[in-house]
Amino acid sequence: MKFFVDTADVDDIRDLAATGLLDGVTTNPSLIAKSGRNILEVIEEICGLVDGPVSAEVAATDFDTMLKEGRKLAKIADNVTVKVPLTMDGLKTCHALSSEGTMVNVTLCFSANQAILAAKAGASFVSPFVGRLDDIGEDGMMLIEDIVMIYENYPDLETEVLAASIRHPQHLLAAAKAGAHVATIPPNVIRQLYSHPLTDKGLAAFMSDWAKTGQSIL
Ligand code: G3P
Repeated sequence: MKFFVDTADVDDIRDLAATGLLDGVTTNPSLIAKSGRNILEVIEEICGLVDGPVSAEVAATDFDTMLKEGRKLAKIADNVTVKVPLTMDGLKTCHALSSEGTMVNVTLCFSANQAILAAKAGASFVSPFVGRLDDIGEDGMMLIEDIVMIYENYPDLETEVLAASIRHPQHLLAAAKAGAHVATIPPNVIRQLYSHPLTDKGLAAFMSDWAKTGQSIL
């Protein structure tokens, strides 16, 4: 399973990229706004920090402007993935950009039928929003399971299921069990994955016993 970090905060990205466990980055207009940075500058900086796909989202909603924006974003670096919303114009843009060899992430996916359309439009990634479905009382993870199952029926499809709107470690675990190819995870949730009280307790006991030996490995 690939791990993308869902942020436009370059300090977080630099910190997490140093672990070697980061496979890519996703941003969206809200995350760019939160960063306070210019989108073109911050995407270029992020693309220099990670080798994997970096999703940069268009801001228009009509086909012509989305296509122009997507082409401009794609020119920033080879690892830019243009993110478009799951609308008819968004899918037209996805089809056009994919045909030009640009990776496209189709976002704001809330149904399996929408995910079928994204795959038909040649998306590299489809982003079902797990947490936002949970927020309205639906089962977000069931959508991931459905899409993974449907895509498996068509082995020629190259679209990867990118579990998005991940809010806590249990979401990640369930997405992995469902076979999502990628999860985009907020930095605080990635850091939570490392933690277990028994790891802390066990390490403290090992360190205490080691100190008693008076030895040094180096
Ligand atoms: O990047 C899209 C997605 O991950 C947003 O998550 O928590 O705002 O629903 P959230």
